[in-house]
Amino acid sequence: MTVDHRRQFLREFLRDPFTVAAVAPSSQALANAVVAPVPLTGDPVVVELGPGTGAFTQAIQRRLAGRGHHVAIEINERFADLLAGRFPRVDLAIADARNLREILTVRGLDHADVIVSGLPWAAFTPGRQDDLLAAVTAVLAPHGAFTTFAYAHTRWMPPARRLRHSLGERFEEVVRGRTERANMPPAFVYSCRRPYTPARRATTGLPPHLSWRRPTRTLQVTRPPNR
Ligand SMILES: C[S@@+](CC[C@H](N)C(=O)[O-])C[C@H]1O[C@@H](n2cnc3c(N)ncnc32)[C@H](O)[C@@H]1O
Repeated sequence: MTVDHRRQFLREFLRDPFTVAAVAPSSQALANAVVAPVPLTGDPVVVELGPGTGAFTQAIQRRLAGRGHHVAIEINERFADLLAGRFPRVDLAIADARNLREILTVRGLDHADVIVSGLPWAAFTPGRQDDLLAAVTAVLAPHGAFTTFAYAHTRWMPPARRLRHSLGERFEEVVRGRTERANMPPAFVYSCRRPYTPARRATTGLPPHLSWRRPTRTLQVTRPPNR
């Protein structure tokens, strides 16, 4: 990542803070953690959401080493221009990641083996978070993996807690990685596997933490004695 890339990232943040939602690109350490599920063999379909200046893109391309199909979906046209020049092998869509299904369909792809997200979840409304996660689980293969990151300092804020809860609702396995302190700001990765599709939910039921309900307390109403 060059100084120019950092400058462009900051410029785009100042232009549109709620879409970029970070002042600097992710570090190499965070990129390595988030792309870990990209297989080192075979021809996987890897989808990247919100590549920005390409911190995760570069790490995915290194792991793929010319194999598979790497689709990157970026909403910001200036980032997309930069990515097109830097990564000619990446199949770039300038679009909202909510249109993931259509973006794959026009490419003749019906699923993704790995989805890597660089999206700023904490900046999204609940509705947008839900739409994006629904789009992810709709195309992720049953054996697939979804990774995303969150900034450590926002983890107790409502949007970050909502994201954690929604991941638990949509995946059988959600593992939180260690905090990468060298990232600016420090961040960690969620690695999610075994998406709950409607069919799977029907056979396995709700995940245990969601089927649990606090027992309701019965209110004792004592009548005053008849006079
Ligand atoms: C926090 S930056 C992360 C950039 C890069 N992945 C990194 O880690 O350095 C968020 C990126 O998501 C993009 N983005 C935000 N909302 C999006 C959406 N709905 N669809 C596609 N990209 C989006 C932004 O333009 C920006 O590039």
